[in-house]
Amino acid sequence: MADIIDGKEFAAKVRAQVAEHVTAIKNDHNITPGLAVVLVGEDPASQVYVRNKGKQTLECGMASFEHKLDVDTDQTTLMAIIEKLNADPAVHGILCQLPLPKHLDEEEVLNAILPEKDVDGFHISNVGLLATGQKAMVPCTPLGCLMMLREKHGSLSGMNAVVVGRSNIVGKPMAQLLLRDSCTVTIAHSRTKDIEALCKTADILVAAVGRPEMVTGDWVKPGATVIDVGINRIDAPEKGTKEDGSVKTRLVGDVDFTSAGEVAGAITPVPGGVGPMTIACLLANTLTACCRANGLAEPQGLTA
Ligand code: GUN
Repeated sequence: MADIIDGKEFAAKVRAQVAEHVTAIKNDHNITPGLAVVLVGEDPASQVYVRNKGKQTLECGMASFEHKLDVDTDQTTLMAIIEKLNADPAVHGILCQLPLPKHLDEEEVLNAILPEKDVDGFHISNVGLLATGQKAMVPCTPLGCLMMLREKHGSLSGMNAVVVGRSNIVGKPMAQLLLRDSCTVTIAHSRTKDIEALCKTADILVAAVGRPEMVTGDWVKPGATVIDVGINRIDAPEKGTKEDGSVKTRLVGDVDFTSAGEVAGAITPVPGGVGPMTIACLLANTLTACCRANGLAEPQGLTA
């Protein structure tokens, strides 16, 4: 059975490190790092994320600014809010929760956020900086995966890494980070031929496709480290029914934990793996942005 990489425990350590730095910055420089989160509409999953982000931001001593906007908010109004946050010196990080309602231009909004306040790392400048190995803001989920991999292996140099999924939020930046750490990187996706055989060559296998339990044990090289980014809610009839008569559900990843766990050397569970690391890295990015904005030394071990 594989070692289980405990993301919940690791995320708590990262948050404690962030909180310690925040206290020092407050005491030594009288500066409080601040994170602004913009949420448009009432998507239930987004509301949960935003609530957790706000809570954890305050818990580590930072200032939290929340802008909850009506689902009908127009592009001009949203852009004006971003401009206001860009100009606000108390705001060091800005995050616009995705997905945005369909009538809004997501690209325009993300690229309007000042790159140095773009704690999601989605601005085109940060994408380019990461791709060329320059100092960037790095997307939180891939950063969290990288931290767990470095903790497990120390150096990743020379390892074969396969990233399943080519999204802008996870797959592509994850591949860039692994390449920067001198892995041999392949990105696999829905059109990849014999994806199973390809995955079986991976010393590091990252699954980020959003397909429940797609990666099974026969895709995994014995001893490999498997990072499961998926969060999928599926029906769980074995758990019975809810009060309203509907079938209960459970969370699963993109990896079949049971079969993959028998072959892998190490594996992240869902829940309790990558998920908690994402918000921890958002806090780390906000601290980094605050340090850069004020010419202070950046925290060690919390950046890529
Ligand atoms: N929605 C789902 N994941 C993310 C994320 O990492 N950042 C933002 N802004 N929205 C998301």
